[in-house]
Amino acid sequence: MKPFKIRDIVIDPPLILSPMAGVTDYTFRRLIKRRGGVGLVVSEFISVEGLTRHNPKSKRQMRFDEEERPYAVQIFGGKVDRMAMGAEMAQEVGADILDVNCGCPAPKVVKNGGGSGLLRDPALLESILKEIKKTITIPLTLKLRTGYSDASINVVDVVKMAEQCGVEHIQVHGRTREQGYKGLANWDLIKQVKDAVSIPVSGNGDITTIEYGMTKWRESGVNGILIGRGAMQNPWIFRQFADVLAGNQPYVPDVSEKKHVLLEFFSMCREEMAEIVALGKMKQLAGQFTKGLVGGAQFRQTLYHSHSAEEILDNISIYFETLETRDTFGDGVIEADEDADVEITSCDVETHTTENLTQRVSAGVAGQI
Ligand SMILES: Cc1cc2nc3c(=O)[nH]c(=O)nc-3n(C[C@H](O)[C@H](O)[C@H](O)COP(=O)(O)O)c2cc1C
Repeated sequence: MKPFKIRDIVIDPPLILSPMAGVTDYTFRRLIKRRGGVGLVVSEFISVEGLTRHNPKSKRQMRFDEEERPYAVQIFGGKVDRMAMGAEMAQEVGADILDVNCGCPAPKVVKNGGGSGLLRDPALLESILKEIKKTITIPLTLKLRTGYSDASINVVDVVKMAEQCGVEHIQVHGRTREQGYKGLANWDLIKQVKDAVSIPVSGNGDITTIEYGMTKWRESGVNGILIGRGAMQNPWIFRQFADVLAGNQPYVPDVSEKKHVLLEFFSMCREEMAEIVALGKMKQLAGQFTKGLVGGAQFRQTLYHSHSAEEILDNISIYFETLETRDTFGDGVIEADEDADVEITSCDVETHTTENLTQRVSAGVAGQI
């Protein structure tokens, strides 16, 4: 697996932080990028309906920092003219790449023809891609699922059409819309996509360990790999993957770095947003990040029950100091993924927006975030 190019943009290493609504915002992307090993970052999906009607939230979602480059903006929608306008706006703010979302399964998105709804209407997708190509000069890429349902798997036909429209990189999440996040991603279909087109193809789905990532890459022959949820559990996963690709031992962060990454994230969040929102964001990350830690479930509970920045910071200090001095915490159990009580499995904007996090934290249900 070696670096690949999207037109003249080098993706090196060929590892991509997969877009996640309500997660891969300006703060989270920089946190992950700074750990190393990330060849491309993508915004959260951004509504072109909001963007082209100058909704401040949609505009805010396009914001990025130079340290993030190469940076792709992902847009979603089901109307040709609005998609082209949104694409133009992304180019104007300086995005390196424009990505079209053809995978989100959320009913609200699909109902309006966007996200994975476009898989049911390839003719509309074709019109959208052609119109965007006429409007922008930066590379156009597509992220899609394998089909709308098991009975209508059409990813290979769709990517061939996309290639004809001038799309320059295909990213396949190996599940159907119907599947949501259940079961496993189908990497055989990802391989079929790779074999069907001559533009670069990246594969996506369930990569949470380097071993699994290497296996799926070897089997499918893809140019790149996208990692989403795995980055919340392990912010160093890209660096570790890149180490192995370069023939080195994977980097192993020590306890103090794990503490530092939480503190860095919290401090970045506090600079960007109201304290209550920062608390919600912290709980969201902690829900995943604590999965592989000794006594992680108990540590997570202390964070969920923290109601102020001071409490969160105190609980982080107590946890990591205990680990450093005693090598254990609480029951000392490292839970398997499936035992952890927090699943983040949706691109449903309703459940992941910062506004929603605020409401849920205020309503005292932070533990469920
Ligand atoms: C919370 C959440 C939000 C997501 N939001 C988006 C999104 O905005 N755009 C997109 O293309 N995919 C989105 N996805 C899908 C991921 O990018 C990725 O395709 C999927 O999670 C499978 O990869 P993984 O197993 O590495 O997480 C989202 C997934 C999750 C869990």
